[in-house]
Amino acid sequence: MDTEWIRFDAVKGYQEKELEQAAQILRRGGLVAFPTETVYGLGGDGLQPEAAKRIYEAKGRPSDNPLILHISSREELPAIVADIPKKAEALMDAFWPGPMTLIFQKSKQVPYETTGGLDTVAVRMPQHEGARQLIARAGVPVAAPSANTSGRPSPTTAEHVKEDLWGRIDMIIDGGAVGIGVESTIVDVTEDVPVILRPGHITKQMIEEVAGEVRMDPGLAGENPEVKPKAPGMKYRHYAPQAQMTVIEGPLKAVIGRICELAARYPAEKVGILATDETVAYYSHGQVLSVGSRKQHTIEQGLYGVLREFDHRGVEVIFSESFPEEERSEAIMNRLLKAAGQRIEYLPKE
Ligand code: TXA
Ligand code: MG
Repeated sequence: MDTEWIRFDAVKGYQEKELEQAAQILRRGGLVAFPTETVYGLGGDGLQPEAAKRIYEAKGRPSDNPLILHISSREELPAIVADIPKKAEALMDAFWPGPMTLIFQKSKQVPYETTGGLDTVAVRMPQHEGARQLIARAGVPVAAPSANTSGRPSPTTAEHVKEDLWGRIDMIIDGGAVGIGVESTIVDVTEDVPVILRPGHITKQMIEEVAGEVRMDPGLAGENPEVKPKAPGMKYRHYAPQAQMTVIEGPLKAVIGRICELAARYPAEKVGILATDETVAYYSHGQVLSVGSRKQHTIEQGLYGVLREFDHRGVEVIFSESFPEEERSEAIMNRLLKAAGQRIEYLPKE
């Protein structure tokens, strides 16, 4: 299949003809990868069962893993959900458009192919102007998982999408690097007390300020294999580089020392070190990459790109610093530990 490549420019927007072409592909049941503020999405018409099937096929994703429907305005919501709980209203007022996905009871219109057989549906209204214009022009809710091959790190640039899906989808919209870098926070509002099914840029504390008591899905911790996460997608090893990764947690100085010691056991070209702007200079052996700055809070944005870069360099093992005290630590540590298959070594406190 030929894949078209078009651009969305933050200042100039779309070229009118190209936007129309993208919208037509969606209406005809084709697939368009597009930028959002979190990660790139792989879009298809969320109401066409055939489009959902194509998405699963292109990604190589298990079809029991439900998709998120993306809308461009609140008016599009009533057609796809059975009811709108009060707490959901409050959350939408506060966080839409933005990096928050809400789980509702689905309406009859939404096919089970989109929801992976569930009676609930995930809905998100993205903030990204390019995403919103595309959805509005298509005139349909756009089902969009992250635009990566299943199991690989989510794409934060159009080039990442190209690496995974070139020739498998109809179009890629290049909107440059995304702003946030990890997927949306997912909140289940079908229960009295909302439950966070996937941590993201919008934190538990921010949600509590708006909706009162909120719980974390106990399956998220990944500590007890008996307790499964409620979001089907969270159970897979995911976001993962090809190398085996271990996270080292403890006082930063000790972490650096331990990573140096571990890395020395491998040839320099085979060992990756996931460091930060503040610490890169302390490592001298291995493929050392900075994920971003602890001080400037850019870890979240750099994470997936760095994991992909380790793949490009062909490293076989990765040792990573840990970020338990970062501003968005829930989301960062969730993705990092999933990429590491929950492999973590704790060093004693000072
Ligand atoms: O930021 C994002 O949310 C990105 C961009 C493209 O919008 N999308 C995204 O989609 O991350 P995806 O498919 O990679 O992740 C969707 C997650 C999966 O873990 C899935 O299991 C969960 O949402 N999910 C979808 N529908 C659900 C439902 N009805 N109940 C529980 N979890 C659901
Ligand atoms: Mg994904």
